[in-house]
Amino acid sequence: DIFGSERKNSKGLNMNILSEAEPFFAALDQFKTHQWHGGPLINGETLSGESKAVVSPYDTTQTVGQVIFADDQAVEQAISSAVAAFPAWCRTPVAQRANALQKLADLLEENREELIVLCTREAGKSLQDGIDEVREAIDFCRYYAVQAKKMMSKPELLPGPTGELNELFVQGRGVFVCISPWNFPLAIFLGQVTAALAAGNTVIAKPAEQTCLVGYRAVQLAHEAGIPKEALQFLPGTGASVGAALTSDERIGGVCFTGSTGTAKVINRALAAREGAIIPLIAETGGQNAMVVDSTSQPEQVVNDVVASSFTSAGQRCSALRVLYLQEDIAERVLEILKGAMDELSIGYPGSVKTDVGPVIDATAKANLNAHIEHIKQVGKLIKQVELPADCKDGHFVAPTAVEIDSIKVLEKEHFGPILHIIRFKASELDKVIADINSTGFGLTLGIHSRNEGHALSVADRVNVGNVYINRNQIGAVVGVQPFGGQGLSGTGPKAGGPHYLTRFMTEKTRTNNI
Ligand code: SER
Repeated sequence: DIFGSERKNSKGLNMNILSEAEPFFAALDQFKTHQWHGGPLINGETLSGESKAVVSPYDTTQTVGQVIFADDQAVEQAISSAVAAFPAWCRTPVAQRANALQKLADLLEENREELIVLCTREAGKSLQDGIDEVREAIDFCRYYAVQAKKMMSKPELLPGPTGELNELFVQGRGVFVCISPWNFPLAIFLGQVTAALAAGNTVIAKPAEQTCLVGYRAVQLAHEAGIPKEALQFLPGTGASVGAALTSDERIGGVCFTGSTGTAKVINRALAAREGAIIPLIAETGGQNAMVVDSTSQPEQVVNDVVASSFTSAGQRCSALRVLYLQEDIAERVLEILKGAMDELSIGYPGSVKTDVGPVIDATAKANLNAHIEHIKQVGKLIKQVELPADCKDGHFVAPTAVEIDSIKVLEKEHFGPILHIIRFKASELDKVIADINSTGFGLTLGIHSRNEGHALSVADRVNVGNVYINRNQIGAVVGVQPFGGQGLSGTGPKAGGPHYLTRFMTEKTRTNNI
């Protein structure tokens, strides 16, 4: 069992069962107007300083609370404390580290409703996304706890001549800097942190500047669960200040980053330019994710999966579908149903159970996405743009949009929002479709719809991506079930929630003993 007990992936919530739904909604209500306060956590102490208001992406007249950003002094304290704490944490028996992570999973479950509301209010997550977010965070804690025990409990015995004992040990690398994104402010934040901790590293966590309060609560719970306060430091702030200071410091032992390809390259350059050891960068970045639909596909199922893949989370998933390739024989039928399905999307307040599409993260994202929509409507042909309801006016909402274009080459970069590009192809052009997808250099997710298994498997084999989904949507990888992560411009690997992930957080020592 990958979770080390009878327990499988964390449990969901059936809203159709009144006895489950009623207490859940009542608990959510308690946090409707709650104000959270967060700041740098150095050895468990919250530093004071100038705070700034955090507002909700769906209504910028509403505050979620206040956050204090870390200054240079806080960065220095975090690094020196994490360095000092490393030897003890690294030598703590792995079972003890794993127990703290299992306890953290329990605390996440106990505090589920608060965390869901916080994700909704700070990150604009829909209710369903909030529920899934907490479940994924719980799964990461439990999965890495079990993996660490499996890999680190005893050294691997190796063959050797008589009298010589050869053993391979693994251990943490030092201080790991974890830089996480706003689109999974709890799940990816804790996925990175728990992997690094499980492997025996001390951690400095820098959340995305838009979602510091979720990160702050997560670190508080981790400390409560028994992660030593010195082993997990928290530094909210911007990439340009806190991120840059951390990644240029010669005392750090590794960086785990999820975010844009551009920022990953900036970090890579900073690591190369600094003094000190050569250290690993684990990067999970963007995608120009395609779905290839052939004429044997079932149009209603295709549309269902396209809508889920493109518009769930307002398209703000690195796995989200950006470019839909439709074989021409089926294209008209699919587009007709797609237009109808887009009309049915409910857009608005993300805390409502009815909402399918919430806001994008901030004003800059909204402006960039709207500029791209205006541009691509000129280049291509508008298929459908959903009208935004009037009550979206105070938030960062972007209208779900589908545009037909001639080639993936007109998309110069990833557009991280609810925008779907559609390209028709002839059966004879399949090789070119595959070459074009590969030519983007990205390689994260690929969707395939076909009822011809040989054909589907051949496409799956020829497109260079980390995650392929056949006849289903292409989002929502499950920990331990669909290890997640890409290649090329999409990331360095290894895959989060997979059996090889922890190795990159470890260093190995071979001991040959001839005593
Ligand atoms: N793990 C997420 C997903 O699979 C990343 O975007 O959707």
